[in-house]
Amino acid sequence: MKDFAVELAREAGRVLMDHFEHRLAVGSKSSEIDLVTEADVASEKLLVEAIRGRYPEHGILSEEGLGKGQAGEFLWLIDPLDGTTNYAHGYPVFCVSIALQCKRETVLGVTYDPVRDELFWAEEDRGAYCNGRRLSVSSTDSLRRSLVATGFPYARASIEDNNLTEFGRVMPRVQGVRRGGAATLDVAYVAAGRLDGYWEFHLSPWDWAAGDLLVREAGGRTSDVSGQPWRLRSGNMVATNGLLHEELLAVLKGRPLI
Ligand code: IPD
Ligand code: CA
Ligand code: CA
Repeated sequence: MKDFAVELAREAGRVLMDHFEHRLAVGSKSSEIDLVTEADVASEKLLVEAIRGRYPEHGILSEEGLGKGQAGEFLWLIDPLDGTTNYAHGYPVFCVSIALQCKRETVLGVTYDPVRDELFWAEEDRGAYCNGRRLSVSSTDSLRRSLVATGFPYARASIEDNNLTEFGRVMPRVQGVRRGGAATLDVAYVAAGRLDGYWEFHLSPWDWAAGDLLVREAGGRTSDVSGQPWRLRSGNMVATNGLLHEELLAVLKGRPLI
């Protein structure tokens, strides 16, 4: 299944690169800033059809809705294009993300960045890798020496918990906060030690499932903002190298550790 998922992510990445920088039909979903392009749909179609062909009994939960929900013990979670806003503007930071759950536990996670040709994958109890190189989280042990990243929900103009308060709490305490615009890739970077931590609210299961396993298999920690183990329906997530986790949770809550 790992080889299948890795090959599939590469194929979907090729679809994204084929459409990139061409004039694209861009539509919107939940609001004017929540975009969907032809490439999201073409990539998802390829992924869903391949999984259906190979594993017809498996469930598929995919962002653009071509899959069909829970069925049996296996569930694939698919973000066919993470970073759609970047993509639609020709900003080259986006990826494909695929995760597989067995009996509600994530057993496989694959995130592919076709621009840099970086293939991140993790298998339960087998470690996390990027292009064959074993990944390990960073050793930064205090927030003030850290580089972290975050993201903001599409509904940010209309909801109160839009992460601006938490962003304001974290920003003065770290070396930098990045907003890459592709959550799955940001989390893969935590696994790779390029970022020390990441947090975001109002995410969908396909935004985090692969990243959750990547970070844990690279020796880091993931949880929801209350510190409980992350679950598909958590809706928010904090991922760190482990050493910073409690400190980041406390700052997000507005109760920094002394
Ligand atoms: C979005 C990106 C973004 C994050 C949003 C996600 P999409 O996914 O991951 O970085 O901040 O919350 O919805 O729509 O590009 O697949
Ligand atoms: Ca996404
Ligand atoms: Ca997407």
